[in-house]
Amino acid sequence: MPHVALVTGANRGLGREIARQLLARDLRVVLTGRDEAATRRALEALGAAGKNALAVRLDVTDPASIAAARRTAEERFGPVDIVVNNAAVRGVPRVRAAHGGARLRARRQRVVGRGTVR
Ligand SMILES: NC(=O)c1ccc[n+]([C@@H]2O[C@H](COP(=O)([O-])OP(=O)(O)OC[C@H]3O[C@@H](n4cnc5c(N)ncnc54)[C@H](OP(=O)(O)O)[C@@H]3O)[C@@H](O)[C@H]2O)c1
Repeated sequence: MPHVALVTGANRGLGREIARQLLARDLRVVLTGRDEAATRRALEALGAAGKNALAVRLDVTDPASIAAARRTAEERFGPVDIVVNNAAVRGVPRVRAAHGGARLRARRQRVVGRGTVR
């Protein structure tokens, strides 16, 4: 099965480009952002709607939205393998601290900061 990646801040800028590159590598990609309509538009612009990608609302400062996005991603694609936390937060430790422990759990978590896909 292809790996599943979740990208925060994926409705524009570096996050959308990261999502594009992951899709080009045949991963299944969950694009997220606070503005769900903009995230859906980004998905459509990438030509990925209804295929291996999904648009989900996720605000990195809102633990409930993180949990909901994770549930949606898992229901559709199964466990998330890769989290690219691109959305204006430097790394998961800071997200964890801000949320008192709430976080996305990736099966094999790789966090790639500042828009670099490795
Ligand atoms: N562009 C550069 O040259 C550059 C250089 C160094 C570092 N960076 C870092 O790289 C990241 C992306 O940069 P960018 O230029 O692509 O930024 P951008 O164009 O401003 O895009 C930011 C993205 O993050 C989302 N976002 C903002 N606040 C959010 C929140 N609380 N929760 C979830 N999503 C949120 C935005 O969507 P919504 O508003 O819909 O949530 C948007 O998709 C940022 O962390 C930035 O600091 C960028």
